[in-house]
Amino acid sequence: MGTLGKVEIIVLSDPAAVGRHAARLIADTLAGKPDPVLGVATGSSPLATYAELAALVHNGLDLSRASAFALDEYVGLDPAHPEAYHSVIHRTVTVPLGLDPARVHVPNGSAADLRAACADYEAAIEAAGGIDVQLLGIGANGHIGFNEPGSSLGSSTRVKTLAPRTRRDNARFFGGEAEAVPVHCLTQGIGTILRAHSVLLVATGESKAAAVAAMAEGPLGACCPASALQLHERATVVVDEAAASSLRDREYYDFARDNAPEGAFGRD
Ligand code: F6R
Repeated sequence: MGTLGKVEIIVLSDPAAVGRHAARLIADTLAGKPDPVLGVATGSSPLATYAELAALVHNGLDLSRASAFALDEYVGLDPAHPEAYHSVIHRTVTVPLGLDPARVHVPNGSAADLRAACADYEAAIEAAGGIDVQLLGIGANGHIGFNEPGSSLGSSTRVKTLAPRTRRDNARFFGGEAEAVPVHCLTQGIGTILRAHSVLLVATGESKAAAVAAMAEGPLGACCPASALQLHERATVVVDEAAASSLRDREYYDFARDNAPEGAFGRD
């Protein structure tokens, strides 16, 4: 199994295979680092990866010295609310992966001064030495983090307004009520994500096929924020067959995966 960045787009049979592969890539990337730093996402896409990572931890992978930084948080939700990303990350990442809660960071969406909270968050990432591997999902509208279409490709952590489509997509976490989904969030910017030393995006299912194709093969532009990953030297995309179904150049991705040059790392 290689390190991140060897293969740009990896298409696997199903979501379980995506989770297994992504977890192995993360474990390999963090291996040997005394104080590894993991960037974590919420939502459905990374859950299989976290479950596989938890199994690796159960079998001896030690993440007790790892730090984690979440991508985003809703504004105005009590951190103890079950759908606040503070709670979600604690439940799905911190506990199952055996992380030290003191090393797990989530933007403070309840801060009196949200701008200062964003600046503090950027400073904390920098003080940790940057993010070794940032795990990402992708919105059906092409967002990464909560950088909705139109976001600056150079942006840092800041307050954003969620797109109506994102609120509808996330209504499932709020009793089916889009109106119950907060309107604002704090999110790592696209520039923040691009500063991660490597990024790993996972996507599964037909509903992500158009966004995955736009990210990987569409023009670079703010109308598909995830297309900014085309600028990253170490961006790996792991998708299942359904999420890959709109990719035009599938034949090449498979060929490149099977014929990676020895020692290759990064986009060529
Ligand atoms: C989550 C995040 C979002 C999600 C995206 C996909 O922290 O920042 O970008 O990754 O909305 O969500 P799911 O995986 O639920 O389809």
